[in-house]
Amino acid sequence: MDDASDRAVFTASAKALRTIAVDRGLRDMIRSSPTLLHALEKAAWRFVAGPDRQSALRCATELHSRGILSSIDFQGEDAEARSEVDAAVDEFVEATRATASLNVGASISLNLSHIGLAIDRALAVANCERILAAATPTGTEVLLNMEGDRYREDILSIYLDLAPRFSTFGITLQACLSRTERDLEMCLEVPGRIRLVKGAYDELGHGTDIRSGSVDAQYRRLSQRLIESGHACAIATHDPSILAGLLATSARRPEAVEFEMLFSVATHRLEKLRDLGRQVRVYLPYGHKWHLYLFHRLAEHPPNLHVALTAMVKELQAR
Ligand code: FDA
Repeated sequence: MDDASDRAVFTASAKALRTIAVDRGLRDMIRSSPTLLHALEKAAWRFVAGPDRQSALRCATELHSRGILSSIDFQGEDAEARSEVDAAVDEFVEATRATASLNVGASISLNLSHIGLAIDRALAVANCERILAAATPTGTEVLLNMEGDRYREDILSIYLDLAPRFSTFGITLQACLSRTERDLEMCLEVPGRIRLVKGAYDELGHGTDIRSGSVDAQYRRLSQRLIESGHACAIATHDPSILAGLLATSARRPEAVEFEMLFSVATHRLEKLRDLGRQVRVYLPYGHKWHLYLFHRLAEHPPNLHVALTAMVKELQAR
């Protein structure tokens, strides 16, 4: 195959995997099939710290001993049962307390649709305030993940409403959206770290390839703006050419700029930044709701699909 057909196959596979990621029917089917769930779990554990808070805390401590900070996320999204939402909020409050007492510089990341936004905006606000009230006195940062189209507007407006009262509250923005330029300016008006990512959801590009040159160009532009503003930020990408381009700019404000990658993805690049004296962090998810996360990771990097399939086949053969 030539480069163009390789690229076409990659784009089509990535699109299919992103569609699978957000398909609730498929997610429920996987969760209800113990064999499939177990086989896929083997693939998921490469990207996820483990099934519970203790695994995440162990991993955060080990990372800290290697000079890498973490952002812990009890995974989940689209929670429509009140019991699931209440349990998630309790878990985040406990995770906040536990990370603070560990003293390993860990922050918390969360999806608002995991703590009430899939039910009611006011519920999400109240729950987010509860988590922030537990985190703020200990100085623990809480960062909102940015989700798909259904929730994006609410996530931004809830953030802008609460951020003036909670200085350690931050947000993630997706560079692949044209609206992000405006959103970024609004977020720069309030305190709190701004994490810039390319964006993982397929509907973002309305069918365009998420890795296309225009997304990369937009990422470069927005990250320059962010770094030059002096605002606390996280440059959250594994892209070596973008990282190389930002090294000099970020060196002027090293205390405000953090480099952040996903747990077990391109770790050697993060370690290289650490060795250059930069502050580095990994996004460290835990829990059993790894479905969306796993499929996003497979969509981003085709070799991951091969590794995942091999792990699944081995698991199925062993049964
Ligand atoms: P890109 O996908 O172009 O990859 C650049 C290079 O990085 C690849 O060539 C490969 O070498 C390596 N790479 C990338 N992904 C890999 C993978 N899965 N496995 C192995 N290698 C890989 N998205 C979102 O929509 N909302 C959010 O809240 C977040 N939150 C978030 C937090 C943090 C800390 C990070 C790093 C990322 C996110 N994301 C996210 C995901 C983000 O939008 C994006 O999908 C991934 O980071 C991949 O994009 P890159 O910027 O790495 O570029």
